[in-house]
Amino acid sequence: MAIQVQSELERFVEGFRNEHRAARDIFLGIAKALGERDGARIGELMNQANAGIGPHMRYEEEEMYPALAGLFGAEYIERMLEDHDRAFGVAARLMELASHQPITDQDVEEGNRIIQGLLPHVTDCDGLVLAIEVLAPENQRAIFAARDRAIVEEVSMMEWGERRGRQPIPVA
Ligand SMILES: [Fe+2]
Repeated sequence: MAIQVQSELERFVEGFRNEHRAARDIFLGIAKALGERDGARIGELMNQANAGIGPHMRYEEEEMYPALAGLFGAEYIERMLEDHDRAFGVAARLMELASHQPITDQDVEEGNRIIQGLLPHVTDCDGLVLAIEVLAPENQRAIFAARDRAIVEEVSMMEWGERRGRQPIPVA
């Protein structure tokens, strides 16, 4: 049984890290495309974000962050949820900037700034593996199951934004 949980943990860690890698690359790609005034490319990358980040945020919010409250305290959950609130604000603002005709130097600068503000959440979140490792096996299993379910159900970031019952924090 212990061995089974171990390999489930490894599978989770790999998937979790790949999701953060994808998010990182999407936001770096958006920054690059903004610099190149490539609105179509930004649209493509935002579609990728919508499809990939939705399930990720969902299982983090539904199962993973609450499971970490015992270790980090209740305020921690609120902070992580606020990071997500802000990520919704960032996504909305990036879409606006990408729609500008033309995209100005100021738009590029703003886009870079808000992406820089978001990236530490993506990389910090990956470090939570160290916390998940010390959770009880049943709590770990609940997180893994929530992840599998979220991936199968493919709730997009936009859909999750409507369902999660919180407001985006506007960024500008
Ligand atoms: Fe994450």
